[in-house]
Amino acid sequence: MKAIVAVDLNWGIGCGGRLLQTIPEDMKFFKENTLKKVVVMGRETFESLPGKSPLKDRINIVLSRDESFNDDKIIIYRSLDEVFDNIKKYNTDDIYIIGGESIYNQFLSYCTEVYVTKIKNIYTADKHFPNLDENKAWKVASISDSREFNHIQYNFLKYVNKQLIHYTR
Ligand SMILES: NC(=O)c1ccc[n+]([C@@H]2O[C@H](COP(=O)([O-])OP(=O)(O)OC[C@H]3O[C@@H](n4cnc5c(N)ncnc54)[C@H](OP(=O)(O)O)[C@@H]3O)[C@@H](O)[C@H]2O)c1
Repeated sequence: MKAIVAVDLNWGIGCGGRLLQTIPEDMKFFKENTLKKVVVMGRETFESLPGKSPLKDRINIVLSRDESFNDDKIIIYRSLDEVFDNIKKYNTDDIYIIGGESIYNQFLSYCTEVYVTKIKNIYTADKHFPNLDENKAWKVASISDSREFNHIQYNFLKYVNKQLIHYTR
């Protein structure tokens, strides 16, 4: 499985339930990578999607412990174990962990790759992604040239997990 995330220079990912910054090319990158794939997210991230609607043309898996949270347009699992028991049927390379903070934290060690959009700015953030530059298990495998949107610089990096070729559980 893989994770995909947009971070600022402090590895901030969100504030007040929202993204820190929206960059059209990053949204396109996210869509291109996840289309026709399986996306795994937390209930907070699901509820932050426009119209609280599932992402189109993807299998949407949402984690929630709240038994009263139900939606027949998505697949809901109540625990990490339940996710792992049920995703065996998918190709592991087709599973994308898409946030937020709590979900990234719980799944990161099972990910073989992380697609990071690094936004070269600092925002007020209350949610973060683990700093992969300070984590010896991870190394940068590729890095794009620098891009710009509304005077904001950003680039696309791919990190690979040196300790994991395929996720095991
Ligand atoms: N920059 C990015 O790329 C990016 C991507 C995604 C999200 N975000 C941001 O991240 C923030 C949201 O992150 P968050 O950590 O607050 O929320 P989250 O991870 O999206 O969702 C948290 C919720 O997921 C459920 N959950 C978590 N672990 C679970 C488990 N083991 N079993 C069952 N349910 C579980 C719980 O739902 P219940 O409370 O219903 O039990 C929990 O409250 C927002 O600001 C969002 O914009 C940023």
